[in-house]
Amino acid sequence: MAARPVIIDTDPGQDDAFAILLALASPELEVLGLTTVAGNMGLAQTTDNARRIVELAGRGAVPVHAGSARPLLRAPRPVPEIHGKMGIDGWDWAPAERGAEPMHAVDYLVTTLNAHPEKVTLIVLGPQTNIALALRRAPEIAERIERIVFMGGGFFEGGNMSPAAEYNILVDPEAARIVLNAGIPVTAVPLDCTHATPAPVNWSATLAAHGSEVMRACAGMMEFFERYGNAKYGTASRPLHDAVAVAALLWPELFTGRQCTVDVECAGELTTGMTVVDWLRQTGKPDNCLWLNGCTDPGEVYRRMEAALSRLG
Ligand code: BDR
Ligand code: CA
Repeated sequence: MAARPVIIDTDPGQDDAFAILLALASPELEVLGLTTVAGNMGLAQTTDNARRIVELAGRGAVPVHAGSARPLLRAPRPVPEIHGKMGIDGWDWAPAERGAEPMHAVDYLVTTLNAHPEKVTLIVLGPQTNIALALRRAPEIAERIERIVFMGGGFFEGGNMSPAAEYNILVDPEAARIVLNAGIPVTAVPLDCTHATPAPVNWSATLAAHGSEVMRACAGMMEFFERYGNAKYGTASRPLHDAVAVAALLWPELFTGRQCTVDVECAGELTTGMTVVDWLRQTGKPDNCLWLNGCTDPGEVYRRMEAALSRLG
């Protein structure tokens, strides 16, 4: 089967790094390019991180386009307390050999989606600012998008940045609302799904045992990522949220979910950024989202991820 063309919109982040590496390692996906956004870190840093990640994978020819430096209406909310000073801490990264492409991410999205002979799948791993701007600038691209798979939101699990809101949606709720209401097939990979997909305990040791540079980098990032999360949540291991989104695209048979109506709260005093899921069909509105809420075999997800990552470098 021909590889599925994808563009990855991202704000690396250790879990974004795993997601990008998994996508690059998967022959089922053809990564056309990466677009970056302010999220976990400021835009200059997420863009530099994206370059370092594609080069670590030996895929330096994959273009990286820098996008929005701030959410549509709100102030940026970098989280160095979660991801470290650089955002992909845990590995001694070589400086990127090449910079980002001159074209802005939003222009790149519009141009590529309109020009590509096939519809393209968007994998969205950060605040959804770039995608919302592209849809506002050129609404016709909605027809050119095969599906949007995004990591974000939480309904049954609540939030991880406020009681109601998950980070990617809280940072730019207006953007997420535009994306969810654009009439594009959407798969949401929320905390309901990622929390059901924790990495194996001490997975970093398993990764390090492979010995390659990519696997040692992954091991270092995993260790760093787990340290904060396990302390905060009192868990023995953490889910690699964004990598679970790529896993759900690659291996849908390992995940559960339901088609339903989802919207985003943008004005609530206590609930801004909440993804409101009509799980029991109260509204009668048409479905706009496949909302994933579980994983049938987390061990298998990470076994497959490990096998894919070990092919890189
Ligand atoms: C999401 O927030 C970011 O910190 C991670 O990279 C992920 O995309 C998880 O809530
Ligand atoms: Ca992310």
